[in-house]
Amino acid sequence: MCGIVGGISSSGTVLAHLVEGLRVLEYRGYDSCGVAVAEGGSVTVRRKVGRLAELERVLADGALGQARAGIGHTRWATHGKPSDENAHPHSDGSGKLALVHNGIIENYLELRRELIAEGRKFHSETDTEVLTLLVGREYDLGKSLGDAVRAALARVRGYYAIAVISTGASPALVGARHGPPLVAAQTSDGAWLASDVLALMPHTRDVIYIEDGEVVELSPGKVAITNLAGEPVTRVPLRIEWDAEAASKGGFAHHMLKEIFEQPDVLARTAFDRIASVHGDVAFEGAGWDDALLKRIKRVQVIACGTALHAGMIARYMIEGLARVPVDFDFASEFRYREPCLAPDTLALAITQSGETADTLAALRLARELGAYPASICNAIGSTVVRESEATILTHAGPEIGVASTKAFTAQVVAAFLLAVRLARARGMIDEARGRELLDDLRRLRPRMEGLLSDNTVHRVRAIAERHLKAKGFFFLGRGLNFPIALEGALKLKEISYVHAEGYAAGEMKHGPIALIEPGMPVVVISSTGRVTDKVRSNIEQVKARGGHVIVIGSDADSRSLGDESIEVPEASEWLSPVLNVIPLQLFAYHHALMRGCDIDKPRNLAKSVTVE
Ligand code: G6P
Repeated sequence: MCGIVGGISSSGTVLAHLVEGLRVLEYRGYDSCGVAVAEGGSVTVRRKVGRLAELERVLADGALGQARAGIGHTRWATHGKPSDENAHPHSDGSGKLALVHNGIIENYLELRRELIAEGRKFHSETDTEVLTLLVGREYDLGKSLGDAVRAALARVRGYYAIAVISTGASPALVGARHGPPLVAAQTSDGAWLASDVLALMPHTRDVIYIEDGEVVELSPGKVAITNLAGEPVTRVPLRIEWDAEAASKGGFAHHMLKEIFEQPDVLARTAFDRIASVHGDVAFEGAGWDDALLKRIKRVQVIACGTALHAGMIARYMIEGLARVPVDFDFASEFRYREPCLAPDTLALAITQSGETADTLAALRLARELGAYPASICNAIGSTVVRESEATILTHAGPEIGVASTKAFTAQVVAAFLLAVRLARARGMIDEARGRELLDDLRRLRPRMEGLLSDNTVHRVRAIAERHLKAKGFFFLGRGLNFPIALEGALKLKEISYVHAEGYAAGEMKHGPIALIEPGMPVVVISSTGRVTDKVRSNIEQVKARGGHVIVIGSDADSRSLGDESIEVPEASEWLSPVLNVIPLQLFAYHHALMRGCDIDKPRNLAKSVTVE
């Protein structure tokens, strides 16, 4: 959702660092942004609706350039439309403090009424301003900023990561967390906080994750954590292994394009070191995936959101097919409110790129309360989901900046495949030789992905996207393991090209949606060699008989020959065909959106990591 940065330094100005931090975090929210700095006995706020460039224009006068402490924010609106007034930071009117916030204050209306009754004035429609005034009220009583924040938070219900700055004898910077992520780091002459480690990377790779119910006070060279009662908490910094380069565009026009092309490497990083060829098995690092536990598991419950749920749907085919363990999947937002029944010995598998998605986290917590074994497939070491899981498979996709998920998705599918093989081996459903065969297929996938990402594919995909630029809508059809790929292809197009696209199980078309097929309507069909290929071919015929314009993606040559247009995908084992088939669909969405002039990395209304409900 929103991005938060903050910094305090004894040796130089922080403003440029705040702006750079916001640039790194702009992908998290981008409808408005702002900074506040403490300088010369007062706190000055500058904020602007629109992108960071707008704020930079306002800051160009250089007036705040000398400040040694400050906070910044990029916003994804929840309460109140994007506007200068609703942009963060918010101040309490005293000129002594300002606050930025990611999350939702649920009891803001009653608190607002209370503060208005005391004669305090509001200037925005946000829930954040309520919290700012609460902190201000405590600070006016002469409390330190840390104490004022702790006292104010005691009144609040909801989810937040905040950063607050104040002046006084010397500037103070305080953060707190309950829900959305917050990380801090200290350097010899400074201390920094942010909602994402990416913004801390220019300062240090040793970061401290703040946990729920904690308050962090920063001063040059020092990060001090307490709980809400003010009792000190000790935490050892965690070393982040990525470098800042991993989050750059590296010569590509967009992060999304770079991330699509990184997929062969992501596959290798996520899988290869874990393949134990001699045993035809998978060796996960860390505890929690051993035979004793996996033999006990009777069901798997996948919980995830968005693209990650599509990976979870593929996980179902893999785990049921290979390990013969029943798998259910659900949108995390549905699971958490539907009073789910979990069978004994259920493994709850949260799949999440960020490890901070509010619904996924809440669903995982609920599953644990219901007796399930909490586990995850996650891309963010140190994230809340990882910390709350008994076992995690880290997807080594590196930072994913494009809002539309690509490489994180393929890494999730690969991780699910590894898990399916591990489960199957642990439960004796496949022998060593079969395990080796499956894992060899996985190794062979990398050169095939590289081959698929050739100029030839890119040109063909781009030409098809161009021919259908004016189409009113698209269908994406698939069956079996490639049904979720149809959903994912449609989702990618919706997300970044803003075109109506519907993903459907090809066999279900005849039960309704086929009525929508009109002559010339583009229908993308995924068809790879496997147990449902014949069925998919019949579905192609059904669409063609109604005049649909069929674009076939996949390894099955006969299906391709039935299509009006096609993209060939290299042969792979059926289990792994989704990893290849999704690539042309990602490229299709990318080029379609590019030709329509859309903002690829920052699509309208979306956020990379949805840390509110
Ligand atoms: C947001 C992103 C999606 C992502 C979903 C789940 O909606 O825009 O790309 O699939 O959240 O995110 P997670 O971090 O849990 O995978």
